[in-house]
Amino acid sequence: MDKDLLKLLDLSTQDILSILDTADRLKAETKAGEKHDFPSGKILAMIFAKNSTRTRVSFEAGIYQLGGHGVFLSNSDSQLSRGEPISDTARVLSRYCDCIMIRTYEQEEVEELAKYATVPVINGLTDFAHPCQILGDLMTIREHKGKLEGLKATFIGDGNNVANSMIVGCLKVGMKVSIASPEGYHPDQKVLDFAAAYGDDIFQLFDDPKLAAAGADVIFTDVWASMGQESEAEKRRIAFEGYQVNDELMALANPNCMIQHCLPAHKGEEITEKVFEDHADEIFDEAENRLHVQKAVMYILMKR
Ligand code: CP
Ligand code: NVA
Repeated sequence: MDKDLLKLLDLSTQDILSILDTADRLKAETKAGEKHDFPSGKILAMIFAKNSTRTRVSFEAGIYQLGGHGVFLSNSDSQLSRGEPISDTARVLSRYCDCIMIRTYEQEEVEELAKYATVPVINGLTDFAHPCQILGDLMTIREHKGKLEGLKATFIGDGNNVANSMIVGCLKVGMKVSIASPEGYHPDQKVLDFAAAYGDDIFQLFDDPKLAAAGADVIFTDVWASMGQESEAEKRRIAFEGYQVNDELMALANPNCMIQHCLPAHKGEEITEKVFEDHADEIFDEAENRLHVQKAVMYILMKR
């Protein structure tokens, strides 16, 4: 694996599987109350330019469980919002910290941070990607289904950061992928080009959610308006009408089809309350596994 985790496009299949294997081991150690084999006193800087519940708490709890300490930096109370360049911030934080996690808008900002940081950088969500989320989802699917290869994963809704990472992550571990999103809200073209190389048997993009959901083993969805798109919420509510994960759609999927939702959910929009509650165990396992998978990423990136 490279120095950083910036996007799943940068990872090999082996990189992903070794993160998942490490996460399984760290989860088992945590549940057994065992100490992890990891040098103590590592410092993680956590930069947040957007809101967070799961990412913030799971990274902070995770570094603590690894024997280290997390330092939370919001854009509003660091010098970033007063114009200090990301390249200078990278070089300063590298002198104090052993790893930097960042949640922000532009992917380029994260790539710039990694270029100037001498310590590993982890993408905690950008407009383009949410790699930690999909690693946690793959861990959850493997726990529930006992395998990943050959399963069919479907994403219904906005071709956003979660969809982009879902396509890349699922394809890299040997899953089939189908997407349903309306015209104008498709996943990123770079991701579609990457996926197209797998061929029509493996990757399909539809307008119609019913066609995408047929035979699915796991259905993913996410909000229709992501952070930063709040002013488009009404327009998006209209564009995404019919792109709801409900009982009718679930009836087309395979029996025992799982649901993955990164949360927070807008119940009644992208997913019904009923489907959400029917699959709450899977969805909250998914939330829990963010902790274990991010510990695995920190373990691998910081231990060497
Ligand atoms: N899924 C996720 O990243 O949640 P937060 O926005 O709460 O971190
Ligand atoms: N697509 C959502 C994910 C939140 C975890 C957003 O970017 O707001």
